[in-house]
Amino acid sequence: MKKNKYLMENGDEANRLEMKIDVESVTAQARWSGLKPGMRVADVGCGPGKITALLHRMVGPDGTAVGIDSSSDRIQHAMDHYGNSGISFQQRNILDPLDDLGSFDYVWIRFVLEYYRSQAFDIVSNITRIVKPGGILCLIDLDHNCLNQYGIPSRLKKVINSIMAKLGSDADFDPHMGIKLYSMLYDLDYQSIDVTMNAHHLIFGELDHVQDYDWTKKVEVAAQNCGYGFEEYEDGYDGFYAEFKSSFADPRRFIYTPVICCRGVRVA
Ligand SMILES: C[S@@+](CC[C@H](N)C(=O)[O-])C[C@H]1O[C@@H](n2cnc3c(N)ncnc32)[C@H](O)[C@@H]1O
Repeated sequence: MKKNKYLMENGDEANRLEMKIDVESVTAQARWSGLKPGMRVADVGCGPGKITALLHRMVGPDGTAVGIDSSSDRIQHAMDHYGNSGISFQQRNILDPLDDLGSFDYVWIRFVLEYYRSQAFDIVSNITRIVKPGGILCLIDLDHNCLNQYGIPSRLKKVINSIMAKLGSDADFDPHMGIKLYSMLYDLDYQSIDVTMNAHHLIFGELDHVQDYDWTKKVEVAAQNCGYGFEEYEDGYDGFYAEFKSSFADPRRFIYTPVICCRGVRVA
């Protein structure tokens, strides 16, 4: 069954996605995975297009980049902010064939597969068809997404775990997508597979406004709308929200999420 609604859909999503991009780590991951000047690049699930533009800069004037996303809002944002010669954006559903886009030397997909627990392998198979023989596929996703926190109330921790479980069962979200990436490339016969891992959310001390905005949006959009009852709190969601905001702002808490970046070369 094809899913139509993106879990984090909201009017500010282009903004949320754009502000949380860490240019330095994205650049390092792209370079590590084999992105080179002159390549033709696809950024699958490109969101607001900022990373597509970054990848485009890295391939230089002889390279080109195509950003693909199903959201008309984010494609419009991408075209308005990053449209240029050598870079284009297409509104497409990555569950559908993409073969008409031609083939690419390098295909990048970051923070998209986690929204497709049951279909992630099919998506990776589908996008493999647009990777040139000898070309590179780079998959990036999180493991234990939002699940590693220390120093927050046990009730809040339990509710966050329950929300993530509900998102898994009802919305096909997978907080453990990162750990699965390597096996997908292995099963699809990619060669020269390599993996690197870093911390994505690494939160301690004073809360910075980007993490505050990002996590508050996650709570207001995904947690609030997932159908969870919040019975642990006398005043339901409002009580959960208040405890989340105060605990998250406490400089003593420690939070991290591993980000796994996995690359391989498609065999001829
Ligand atoms: C969490 S965002 C990641 C954006 C960007 N890759 C980044 O790393 O910042 C996921 C993006 O995937 C897009 N997306 C989700 N399902 C899709 C689908 N079936 N086809 C194309 N894009 C999709 C969403 O619209 C959203 O912009």
